Amino acid sequence: MSRSPSPIIREACLEDASILCKWWNDPEIMTHVGLPNGLEISVDQVQDLILASEEAAPPPPRSKRFMILAALGREPIGELNYSNWDPERQVVSVGIKICKLSARRKGYGRAALESFLVLLQDVLQVRTVTLEVLARNTPAWNLYERLGFHRVRRRKGAYMCKATSERLDVFDYHISLDRTIP
Ligand SMILES: CC(C)(COP(=O)(O)OP(=O)(O)OC[C@H]1O[C@@H](n2cnc3c(N)ncnc32)[C@H](O)[C@@H]1OP(=O)(O)O)[C@@H](O)C(=O)NCCC(=O)NCCS
Repeated sequence: MSRSPSPIIREACLEDASILCKWWNDPEIMTHVGLPNGLEISVDQVQDLILASEEAAPPPPRSKRFMILAALGREPIGELNYSNWDPERQVVSVGIKICKLSARRKGYGRAALESFLVLLQDVLQVRTVTLEVLARNTPAWNLYERLGFHRVRRRKGAYMCKATSERLDVFDYHISLDRTIP
């Protein structure tokens, strides 16, 4: 398979609120993260989220959102975020979505997450990155394992899907950044 050029990662700004809102309300994108009806959020609410991390003092904030752009044309194709940054423990959590469906399975997710881990190590000086993923989200946990994340545990029924009242299993993953990403 031919691989796409490296994506660009930049901080999300207020102008990104409308596309983030469109993505977060899209059932096809959000069903993989346990929200089959989408997030049902407004552009104003998304702007408030972006503002909250922009105004965190002192920076950097405990959580922040980033856009993934295709290198060619700089079109937004997805988003990344970090959350729950704990400077004392040097730990942070991450999330990723490639939202433009035609951009999936072209290497963007892997390249973006790989660059993001380096950025987090440089900017936040974290040593461990954690994430959680629905056990049924095979594309996502395949990606994490490809990057060297280790599955720590399976939490049975840990996620309650409000839309369907289903209890879904969750995998916890972590990676130590002291070692090289494969
Ligand atoms: C998970 C996701 C980010 C992967 O992004 P992507 O750009 O399509 O992935 P890549 O092309 O970089 O693929 C990297 C690896 O991920 C795995 N992968 C990606 N899509 C897959 C699929 N449909 N089925 C199985 N494995 C898949 C493979 O191991 C792949 O490596 P390979 O191509 O060498 O086999 C994307 O599918 C997505 O955004 N899904 C919806 C949102 C989501 O689930 N986010 C994660 C929440 S925890």
